[in-house]
Amino acid sequence: MTVFSCEALIKQYKLSDHTVTAVNRASFSVEKGEFVAIMGESGSGKSTLLHLCAGLDEPNSGTVTLLGRSLFQMKPDELCRFRGKHMGIVFQDHRLVPYLTALENILLPLSAAGRDTANYEERLKYLIGHLGLYDRLHHLPRELSGGQQQRVALARALIHFPMILFADEPTGNLDRESADRVASLLTELQKAEGESQATIVVTHDEHLAARADRVFIMKNGELTPAK
Ligand SMILES: Nc1ncnc2c1ncn2[C@@H]1O[C@H](COP(=O)(O)OP(=O)(O)OP(=O)(O)O)[C@@H](O)[C@H]1O
Ligand SMILES: [Mg+2]
Repeated sequence: MTVFSCEALIKQYKLSDHTVTAVNRASFSVEKGEFVAIMGESGSGKSTLLHLCAGLDEPNSGTVTLLGRSLFQMKPDELCRFRGKHMGIVFQDHRLVPYLTALENILLPLSAAGRDTANYEERLKYLIGHLGLYDRLHHLPRELSGGQQQRVALARALIHFPMILFADEPTGNLDRESADRVASLLTELQKAEGESQATIVVTHDEHLAARADRVFIMKNGELTPAK
């Protein structure tokens, strides 16, 4: 079953003297439970593409369909609720709320959607255990290392059992061991019974990409399958 697809996405940035085509007719789709990695050199358009896929930014043209719904046809508040329910997003720069503790940040998708956090205790334990965050839960983001912030961002993106995870460099600030732990978590979630979460990661990490079902390469805004 196809959970996600995008068709001919184009995103251009108009600068004073020229236009940058950050994403040039990108199309791909993701099946339920599939793990897709997008690689490519710096500036090739990976983050821009991921933001379009999650409906965080509007393309100049093209479509994104998630669970049968066309994202850019939704009203902003509807899209916001839809995202909160079905998507998990890890930003390249984490974007944790600076005045909330690690734990409060992780629980944010639940409180924002008015869900009872008591129902997610097992999930919370599972994520903080796998991500090694036990002793950092009551710290503010500024008191955490880049790698710890990244793991908090990942826990926040996964706490509500999203159907699809969009993660931009989720192992970018981690040492090999922590990166492998994150990679194992992502593949475990994908395989977990009854979950079958789809995952799209943007990564430079060859070890993480090696676990993907399919790898795409982004080059000058163009997306092509790697294998
Ligand atoms: N808001 C913006 N205004 C103008 N140009 C932008 C903007 N955002 C991105 N770009 C340009 O779009 C291109 C793609 O940027 P993007 O951030 O998507 O690259 P990336 O592949 O994620 O790079 P990295 O691996 O360094 O994170 C780059 O040339 C970048 O300079
Ligand atoms: Mg990027």
